[in-house]
Amino acid sequence: MDRRIDPWGSEGVKDYDRLVKDFGIEPIQGMVKKVPDNLLFRRGAVFGHQDFGRIADSIKQKKDYVMLTGLMPSGKFHIGHKMLAEQMIYYQQNRGKVFICVADVEAYNMRKASLKDLRATAIEEYLTNYIALGLKPKGCDFYFQSSRSGDAGKANAYHRLAAMASRKTTTNEMKAIYGEVTPGKIMSVMHQVADILHPQLKEFGGERPVVVPVGVDQSPHIRFCRGIASRFTKSSEYDFIPPSATYHKFMKGLKGGKMSSSDPYSFIALTDSPKVAGEKIMKHAFSGGQGSVKEHRKKGGNPDIDVAYQMLYFGFEENDRKIKKIHDDYRSGKLLTGELKQILIEKMSKFLVSHQQKMEKARGKVGDFLG
Ligand code: TRP
Repeated sequence: MDRRIDPWGSEGVKDYDRLVKDFGIEPIQGMVKKVPDNLLFRRGAVFGHQDFGRIADSIKQKKDYVMLTGLMPSGKFHIGHKMLAEQMIYYQQNRGKVFICVADVEAYNMRKASLKDLRATAIEEYLTNYIALGLKPKGCDFYFQSSRSGDAGKANAYHRLAAMASRKTTTNEMKAIYGEVTPGKIMSVMHQVADILHPQLKEFGGERPVVVPVGVDQSPHIRFCRGIASRFTKSSEYDFIPPSATYHKFMKGLKGGKMSSSDPYSFIALTDSPKVAGEKIMKHAFSGGQGSVKEHRKKGGNPDIDVAYQMLYFGFEENDRKIKKIHDDYRSGKLLTGELKQILIEKMSKFLVSHQQKMEKARGKVGDFLG
């Protein structure tokens, strides 16, 4: 069986436990209590990690550390993207330096988009939403792969690293991790290596722990990059602390498959009106309930496959006691599918109204993030 994960593929992930086994990802449970409380950790949306202990220690001992992650700008910013944004903001609020990479070179090569459109989407959709969700300019370095910095010393250091990392790998290693390799993939992967490692270059602040929160589809890149980091360090060309990573689950799409910005009926965008969001939930959200009320009362529903429940669980219901009650009532048949959806619709509407007001203000602040 092919056990590879394709980071550019469109397939959702079904079996998170298998991933943990196959890819040397550690379960997150042991870390949850070592860091300031966070819903995504506590509820297992962030389910695994590598070397996260180093980050937990840095937070606790108030030592310098970095959070770096990246995004491929595509279409609308939706509630799946929101999970990663919340993690960025969490680290910023816990004194991490924040590096956010717009993977426009990667998207140019792999998705055939133009740099101009990618830049517009990154700013109008992603950055604006990050700001509205609470991202602050202080200690935040928001950059584009295609133009790392206006400071030549810094830009050279980043691109030099991307180029020199090539000597630390082989075609065979790349094929083992990525399957077929193409020039576009190779360049994307080498850029991502530079993204993850460059905060430790002296031009960018020097050696220190870096955590890379990603969706689990990005685990091949992390594995590849950690290998390169160790080979550089062994040859004493650069000194890198191995990058730490956390892995989060994907928010399921409304219909149950992957939440994808190319299918508007799979996601709820943060710019959807409460009315549209409500309709999407009512009409499209995959239900774990039974075919009839009578049957539902008798057999109960299945929260594990119910998309509305999942959205509540991954953040829209923050109260642990309430979410447990919703879970138990749904399981027992006391709570009907329509009622469960109504709970989500109310929470979602409140959030969207307040978020969209914040978006208005955020639009005026994007300049503070673009150097
Ligand atoms: N490949 C990532 C994606 O598809 C984007 C990305 C680029 C990234 N560089 C990164 C993610 C560095 C994490 C760290 O979304």
